[in-house]
Amino acid sequence: MSHPFESYVISVVRPIQMTTREERESIIKESHYNLFQLPADKVMIDLLTDSGTGAISNHQLAGIVSGDESYAGSESFEKMRTVIRELTGLSHVIPTHQGRAAENVLFSALVKPDDIVPGNTHFDTTKGHIEFRKAVALDCTISEAGDPTSPHPFKGNVDLDKLETALKTNPREKLPLVMMTVTCNSGGGQPVSLANIKSVKALCQKHGVPLYFDMARFAENAYFIKTREAEYADWTIPDICREMFSDVDGATMSAKKDGISAMGGFVALRSDDVYQQCGVYSILFEGYLTYGGMTGGTMASIAQGLKEATDFDYLHSRVGQVARFGHQLKEYSVPILEPVGGHAVYVDALRFLPKMPRDQFPAQALACAAYVEGGVRGVEIGTVMADRDPKTRENRFPKMELVRLAVPRRTLTDNHLHYVAQTFGNLLRSASTIPGLEITWEAPILRHFTCRFKPRDNK
Ligand code: F0G
Repeated sequence: MSHPFESYVISVVRPIQMTTREERESIIKESHYNLFQLPADKVMIDLLTDSGTGAISNHQLAGIVSGDESYAGSESFEKMRTVIRELTGLSHVIPTHQGRAAENVLFSALVKPDDIVPGNTHFDTTKGHIEFRKAVALDCTISEAGDPTSPHPFKGNVDLDKLETALKTNPREKLPLVMMTVTCNSGGGQPVSLANIKSVKALCQKHGVPLYFDMARFAENAYFIKTREAEYADWTIPDICREMFSDVDGATMSAKKDGISAMGGFVALRSDDVYQQCGVYSILFEGYLTYGGMTGGTMASIAQGLKEATDFDYLHSRVGQVARFGHQLKEYSVPILEPVGGHAVYVDALRFLPKMPRDQFPAQALACAAYVEGGVRGVEIGTVMADRDPKTRENRFPKMELVRLAVPRRTLTDNHLHYVAQTFGNLLRSASTIPGLEITWEAPILRHFTCRFKPRDNK
């Protein structure tokens, strides 16, 4: 029988420090209206990210304590590799300190200037690593993904015509790989169907281009396949994972998501040759091939975390909690991206603040207002994060302007999330008073982490 409630109990807790609106008004100003700059103890409900913020289990803690810290040949690495091989069928595993480090290792081996890497809305670090190498991250996501009201069940899907055009019109040597992100974070935590994965595999095989996954939230993607793709309703989550990865050439992983670890990542590969090429960069940037920037304890904890993250009952409570949160926001008439994603609810800032011009960064303005209103921290996924075009240096205006409210794994109760829904509901009533923002300083790449702003009416 499956659990009708969370499939675990909470055994270690951390207190939340309360703040007043007056305190938050001065803290946000001192933080230059950038939520990454806030002191975390001044945030009451932190939905900045689901990355590295999940609660670990007793078995994961046991792994951390009993990790094998040998420089080479660690037993904890072996444990982690065994689980990854079981879930993906990929034989080679290179540990890295986190997901973007896995991208760095893989792309150092495969991506060169002027290359084209098609995919389904690459995550910003993935795009950053591609553009840093003077290559192009080509977005081939289906058009429904750009419509926050479209009920399409697999809005992470790749548009097969767009992909085929990219594969047909570019010379093979300019196409080092196709990168599919499962689930698609930048598109709203939206899943990719197995039918789409299979079609993409067939296209890649036809054109001789390797296919890789960004597998940060692969378990949540597998849950959506089981619950939304009738053909797989009776399959187990690990069986769906194996089917997703069959014939895929490799993957990059941030174990901070579906590894339920505070830190860690890896590259998983099928080819001996690519493994050898990546190994050089791994040793150079990350560490020896059996630890790659992680402690033995972290690797043991990831081995266990991957098993727990692919447990159906866990996924049911995890994805179910995020869905309930989305439902509550809707009850307060807050416009959100639908269907609700696997790890986060995305508030649609363009419908929340319809009069604010795009160059006043409505999603960033809304995220700051939510902090002041309720001590809640989300993150902008909009024009600030989309960065400037690397060639023209103009702002890029993505189709959607969103505030992501990411739910850490096994950390918050529905009660916490109800408070967040209420906070946004309150804000909606005074939405016309939320000031737009202007940038006063920004970094040349990945600007959203450190960008400084000031309110428009404060000039
Ligand atoms: N790929 C995806 C889909 C991600 O969501 C992230 C990180 C990465 C790669 C990079 O992994 O952080 O371990 O280096 N996403 C975090 C987030 C930061 O908040 O969504 P990392």
